[in-house]
Amino acid sequence: MLRLLYISKSAITAERRLPELRDIRQSANRHNNINGITGMLIFEQDKIAQVLEGERLAVTNTFGRIARDDRHTDVELLEVTSGHDRLFGAWGMRVVTAGPENSLLFKRFAIDGGFRPELMEAETLVSLMVHLSRVQPSLKPAA
Ligand SMILES: Cc1cc2nc3c(=O)[nH]c(=O)nc-3n(C[C@H](O)[C@H](O)[C@H](O)COP(=O)(O)O)c2cc1C
Repeated sequence: MLRLLYISKSAITAERRLPELRDIRQSANRHNNINGITGMLIFEQDKIAQVLEGERLAVTNTFGRIARDDRHTDVELLEVTSGHDRLFGAWGMRVVTAGPENSLLFKRFAIDGGFRPELMEAETLVSLMVHLSRVQPSLKPAA
């Protein structure tokens, strides 16, 4: 088991946000299911943070594909760890944006009043993700 954490910046324009998020979620679910990948993707304003967990080769190949995707830039690998249980096993790839159901969590982990993954320690970011994974999704899907 490998767990990989990266951050990046969205290159998606405001008007393309919903359709692109839907597309990312669809291809993520399709591929990740086949490849045994689970994880979480935070997509907030133009900030992206994602955890991929699964078998080594599957995580490596999936990250390789994602890193080449021109819908985001400044892809920065924060952490790769191995040999532990899944943290996000209950979900395929959960995609989370800030909303009423999780605004307190985003507030608690905020830096300079916002979600600033580039200023967060990897451990803190994973901790935010674990907390977010326990929040029931709102009825209105994020995308
Ligand atoms: C922020 C972001 C996160 C993504 N996450 C995943 C993912 O978890 N799994 C995956 O297979 N593709 C993911 N993608 C999409 C891939 O980059 C790529 O577009 C897709 O796998 C191509 O497959 P398709 O053409 O069959 O849809 C992500 C893309 C972006 C921009």
